[in-house]
Amino acid sequence: MSKINITVCMGSSCFARGNAANLEFIENYIMQNGLDAQIDLAGSRCDGSCVTGPNVVINGTQYTEVDEDKLKEILDSLSQA
Ligand code: FES
Repeated sequence: MSKINITVCMGSSCFARGNAANLEFIENYIMQNGLDAQIDLAGSRCDGSCVTGPNVVINGTQYTEVDEDKLKEILDSLSQA
């Protein structure tokens, strides 16, 4: 499996609108699936696209209005690839 890069927007808008919970979900997902070595998790500042937030970038693709269901779907498909 190739490395997965995840950047979670930690700006106040995204954070308040769901990325606080999304970050926790990702951390748990990594732990439960033993993906520590495969997933690089980082935070970023607001890039001005708050209106579509919460925003998460995964392997260079920006995902908008991210929730736990969406994250699970993306992470499942990437970690099984
Ligand atoms: S707070 Fe995330 S884009 Fe502005």
